[in-house]
Amino acid sequence: MPDSQGTTLNPRPASAGAEGVSAAAAANSPAVEFRNIDIAYGKFVAVRDFSLSIGKGSFVTLLGPSGCGKTTILRSIAGLVDISAGQIMIGGRRVDDVPIYKRNIGLVFQSYALFPHKSVFDNVAFGLKYRNVAKPEIKRKVGQALDMVRLPGSEKKLPSQLSGGQQQRIALARAIVFEPQVLLLDEPLSALDANMREEMRVEIKKIQKETGITAIFVTHDQEEALSMSDRIVVMNAGSAEQIGTPEEVYERPATAFVADFLGKANMLSGAVSRSDGPTIVTLAGGQTINVLSPKALPQGSPVTVVVRPQKLSIGGASANRLPGRIVSASYLGGSAIYEVDIGDKANIRANAPIAGRVLREGEVIELGFDADDCVLLDEAGRRIS
Ligand SMILES: Nc1ncnc2c1ncn2[C@@H]1O[C@H](COP(=O)(O)OP(=O)(O)OP(=O)(O)O)[C@@H](O)[C@H]1O
Ligand SMILES: [Mg+2]
Repeated sequence: MPDSQGTTLNPRPASAGAEGVSAAAAANSPAVEFRNIDIAYGKFVAVRDFSLSIGKGSFVTLLGPSGCGKTTILRSIAGLVDISAGQIMIGGRRVDDVPIYKRNIGLVFQSYALFPHKSVFDNVAFGLKYRNVAKPEIKRKVGQALDMVRLPGSEKKLPSQLSGGQQQRIALARAIVFEPQVLLLDEPLSALDANMREEMRVEIKKIQKETGITAIFVTHDQEEALSMSDRIVVMNAGSAEQIGTPEEVYERPATAFVADFLGKANMLSGAVSRSDGPTIVTLAGGQTINVLSPKALPQGSPVTVVVRPQKLSIGGASANRLPGRIVSASYLGGSAIYEVDIGDKANIRANAPIAGRVLREGEVIELGFDADDCVLLDEAGRRIS
């Protein structure tokens, strides 16, 4: 399914002889393309049949739980791990047999991995010296990179004289100074405190836009992924569950896994009780709710209705109303999170604006939401489309 930003799920098989592309073909190629790759550590297959095409200049995030294969995929781009099937193309050229040092790739890791006894200048200049760039040019480029990460004049400092956030900026300067084809960022913000993380999110995104560099970012933090990416690849157990814009994966999750991983969705199980015209689902607790189904469903079909906590209001005139009792309330400033017992097995979570006062445990309320705020999943946990 091609899309406007040039990021696609790419199921087509690899064609032979792709490494002999012309310069013109390379100019129009995706920055990075995975064609049905597998990566195994011994007998354990960590990544299975993974395909993804990343347009030049785009910011793509691999998002998923620990162990799902995010770092493994990044490492395969850099040539730090071998693929056992499929192909990787960078700028339209096959790189399966290109060694690490010949791949033009910038890397930023969670641990800043700066040389502790080298100055900021020497740290940032590393990739340029390695590429035999002339001295005056190195000086100019290091200066430019330090301006870009807003640490001008810090050339003589040692990493130990910088804060965590500043060290990560130096790591970023070091990764972009030689204008790599692709910038790989593996959880670069996870060692920083909450405030610094937010600041660096904005900063990294800004630098990526200014330089027009293609960036592949890895995180297991959904907020980071939603706020920074052009496209998000939601990973589960070595495969891509869904690829889409932040809005698409959040608003229209393709599977129960995606719905749950991105933003703690409420999953209400029930069965279709009417599907001629409006679709009505009867929940396990007997309540009926109106949903929008893209197609008519047989009566009795088991379904799961997904509703985001933010879509639930308390009171109000919505199409669907579920009476319940507040089990717990957490005040968040502008809104509150309520756990509400609706007589079903699991409680419903609502994130609602504060109307007058924070409601208290035990209060009986009515949760409201609209038919088009629901996503409908089938028995296998796939979105009905
Ligand atoms: N060198 C290795 N040898 C054997 N197994 C490995 C090796 N590296 C990773 N694995 C396994 O491969 C799977 C994917 O690991 P990977 O590091 O890519 O996950 P991840 O998504 O980056 O996780 P995290 O969020 O914890 O960093 C895991 O099950 C892991 O245990
Ligand atoms: Mg990892």
